[in-house]
Amino acid sequence: MAVSVRDVAEQAGVSVGTVSNVLNNPEKVAAATAERVIAAIEALGFVRNDAARQLRAGASRSIGLVVLDVGNPFFTDVARGVEERAAEEGLVVLLANSDERRDREAAHLDLFEEQRVRGLLITPVGEVGERLHRLRARGIPTVLVDRLAGEGFSSVSVDDVAGGRLAAQHLLDTGRRRLGFVGGPLELGQVRDRLRGAREAVAEVPDARLDVLETPGLSMTEGVSAGRRVLEQEPRCDAVLAANDVVALGVLQGLLLGGVRVPHDVALVGYDDIDFAAAAAVPITSIRQPRERMGAEALGLLLAELDGDERHRQIVFQPELVVRESTAAR
Ligand code: RIB
Repeated sequence: MAVSVRDVAEQAGVSVGTVSNVLNNPEKVAAATAERVIAAIEALGFVRNDAARQLRAGASRSIGLVVLDVGNPFFTDVARGVEERAAEEGLVVLLANSDERRDREAAHLDLFEEQRVRGLLITPVGEVGERLHRLRARGIPTVLVDRLAGEGFSSVSVDDVAGGRLAAQHLLDTGRRRLGFVGGPLELGQVRDRLRGAREAVAEVPDARLDVLETPGLSMTEGVSAGRRVLEQEPRCDAVLAANDVVALGVLQGLLLGGVRVPHDVALVGYDDIDFAAAAAVPITSIRQPRERMGAEALGLLLAELDGDERHRQIVFQPELVVRESTAAR
């Protein structure tokens, strides 16, 4: 049976209201009384019920953050940016991982609604616009991260079409002509836009081609198996654009284990510029996203909406090419 505020009050010989003041308005309580209450809290192992407090106070201190893949450092870097901004506002961040699965995403949204979080940040798996509109109708606004929002929502993202184009153009500039795009599923807006940008760049070079090796997800494991598919190609592509750095790390492993030299036989570009890209066995060229800043800006947009700002803004950062060994000219 959980220890209640009433148990603490009886133990300390004070009223329930005094215990509540010690927890929420300690300046109203005499020091000696507060010490008795704190001693009782520690002796009984009382843990405050934040959800009940929130219901009474009507204002939660929690922000829900739903990411696609908690194993991808891109999202933990974004989460760090959210948390640092949240701490400045006295808010806490509740992190949930959809694992690129719609059912998990829906369950997290239901839970955050029950918890009455103050607001939500999400990188959606599928189309959640209607669900997010229902949440806003219940007083829980949402900002999209790493996804350009349509009408009705604010978002923070990078121009992924420009990013895909930048990656492909860099490979073409180093003389590569048989490019392979590795990533998926193509239902993910970010992946689709990166591929679109790569196709635009390749279309401008007559003797260049772009094959698509779609994957069911954006994991390192999918990258390794795609790397093995590249080995079996005839003729083999001479460069790979990976939809993100985690996939690129897998492709690199698949290629190296197959005896292929990177970049001499196959060049490789990733996306995000996570720390592991620079630390890889062959440092990976990548398209940099300002991850922590994206998180902080997304929370800023959410706070503006919580303060009554009805405008919806789409903050779109420009991608930046970070050149490393994996695309050195042959
Ligand atoms: O959101 C899809 C992908 O875009 C993530 O895996 C992350 O790497 C970002 O670049």
